[in-house]
Amino acid sequence: MKHSKYFVIDFDSTFIKVEALEELAAISLKDEPDSAKVLSEIREITDAGLEGKLSFTDSLARRIRLLRANRQHLEMLIRRLQRKISTSIKRNKKFFRNYADQIYIVSGGFKEFIEPIAKQFGITSENIFANSFEFDDDGNITGFDAANILAQENGKVLLLKSLNLSGDIYVIGDGYTDYQTKEAGLTNKFYAFTENVKRESIVDKADFVAPSFDEFLYLNKLPMSISYPKNRINVLLLENIHPRAQMLYKEEGYQVETLNYSPDEKELTERIKQVSILGVRSKTRLNERILRHANRLIAIGAFCIGTEQLALDTCQQKGVAVFNAPFSNTRSVVEMVIGEIIVLIRKIFEKSNKLKQGIWEKTSAGSFEIRGKKLGIIGYGNIGSQLSTLAEFLGMEVYYYDIIEKMALGNAKKCTSMQQLLKKADIVTVHVDGNPNNRNLIGDDEFKLMKRGAIFLNLSRGFIVNLEALVKHLKNGRISGAAIDVFPREPKSDGEKFISQLQQFPNVIITPHIGGSTMEAQYNIAEFVPRNIIDYINSGNTFFSVNFPNLQLPQLQRAHRLIHIHQNVPGMLAQINSILAQHDINIIGQYLKTNELIGYVITDIIKKYDPEVITELKKIPHTIKFRILY
Ligand code: NAI
Repeated sequence: MKHSKYFVIDFDSTFIKVEALEELAAISLKDEPDSAKVLSEIREITDAGLEGKLSFTDSLARRIRLLRANRQHLEMLIRRLQRKISTSIKRNKKFFRNYADQIYIVSGGFKEFIEPIAKQFGITSENIFANSFEFDDDGNITGFDAANILAQENGKVLLLKSLNLSGDIYVIGDGYTDYQTKEAGLTNKFYAFTENVKRESIVDKADFVAPSFDEFLYLNKLPMSISYPKNRINVLLLENIHPRAQMLYKEEGYQVETLNYSPDEKELTERIKQVSILGVRSKTRLNERILRHANRLIAIGAFCIGTEQLALDTCQQKGVAVFNAPFSNTRSVVEMVIGEIIVLIRKIFEKSNKLKQGIWEKTSAGSFEIRGKKLGIIGYGNIGSQLSTLAEFLGMEVYYYDIIEKMALGNAKKCTSMQQLLKKADIVTVHVDGNPNNRNLIGDDEFKLMKRGAIFLNLSRGFIVNLEALVKHLKNGRISGAAIDVFPREPKSDGEKFISQLQQFPNVIITPHIGGSTMEAQYNIAEFVPRNIIDYINSGNTFFSVNFPNLQLPQLQRAHRLIHIHQNVPGMLAQINSILAQHDINIIGQYLKTNELIGYVITDIIKKYDPEVITELKKIPHTIKFRILY
């Protein structure tokens, strides 16, 4: 049967992730003493051939000589290659099955391992063109069929000529021999496939670059297994975000760029035009002026807790979901609090400092265990509640106060007012959030309510404690020790000098806002934020978004998911449903949530529908963003 289009696909490093002969060598030479040396020799020959520096026939003959392989090794190779099919090829198996007649695998590799793999994708032997091995009676590979057209120099060109296909021919491959077919004028378009290897010399010559097979299908308007090629999602990570984030985005198939600084407004305005996902930490200020240019932006990851640096409302109005890491460093803060309580109650710093000056003061006076002491936690959120659990393990008696109703963990006891807590506790620690109403939450009056000799800690926000009042009560002895990690004014960079009245007290621990600064926390943040953003892109889930209505959605199964973000005006749901009804579309599930500014509607529908419906849904007035997932 004649077709108007043919797809010629290379095998090694394109259909599969690896070069099969290298894998074969790894198997056949596994127990040989010189295996590492021979393997690297084979690799060099492969690369020289693929880059056009060595004739193909020579490259093949030299590699086979080095292989020392047999039929048994080939069987092992096939099993190994089953697991190494390129990710985006595997994902689009359905395309291969549906278009099998139009697909040709043309490879300088060998039929013995290509056929068993490609056949699973519905491609028949007639459409597979490759070399074949020669064996001796014992099953050892001794050479290859030199008469095969593909064993010759310019083999792919000769083969395509001999096929004499009448129609457009699209070639997809990663190597020089694939490009040669284009050079010879035999193909309409050559796509450099870069999912597995990117050879710059080939990329330069290609008509298009296909970082995935989805991209090839997308460019040619062919049916894809996913709604949008992942390689079209550009990620920009700023401020030296932990490399784990980059890894997760890359694994997902996104294009990632990283910067170890926070660009100024001019640079960011320029860069943001191309960005789909932006990753920031606390230094990058994202204002409305910059966001005006962010027309491809889907989501922002704040790789920290605070999001004050981001214009969240503008993000909402542009349909950009913002995610942060609210509890990835919780444990780090809690461990520091516990450590500091012990250090303070045992006067470890004071004694250590004296000893450094040569003063030996071995006394138990004024030193206590934490066991049995009353710990008062103000703010029973992520940090406060985890501290409660750990402190109890250490034998402390825990009291807490929160402005909203919180479940008491373990044996912790709730206080009905902060005043009640302040009077009861031997140690008071503050873990409230940065709500502006919390300014000077702890001042002179509050210190006065505390027990004489109480210990006080603040690792939450600087403006929450009136430091003048703290100094006063440190001087009069009401507070016997304090640990302060956050300050009303903190230096903007490491070099800037820090001055505080607290520096004079030997019984005060001051630290440069490091409560959450551990390697584990950085890793956890770099794991948490990308996973939530990837989930949002793949399923629409907004559960951990700070500015979008929070929806936790079921997994998409045998349906298409319509995601509609709109300004929160009445009647939107009715309009969506009326369009779906007019087109007779079955709704499988529907989820709606709104906040003050926007509405977020997810509609799962049956797979077969008139594409016109999408155009109509996009046109509904007050629509901010619309996308389809499948
Ligand atoms: P969270 O939001 O989970 O918990 C805060 C709790 O405080 C909430 O339950 C809230 O209802 C309560 N609250 C607010 N105002 C209150 C008040 N006036 N009285 C009593 N309760 C009040 O926050 P999370 O994650 O536990 O963090 C707590 C604080 O620690 C935040 O201010 C955060 O910025 C800070 N933090 C500091 C770090 C450091 O490096 N030192 C690292 C991580 C967080």
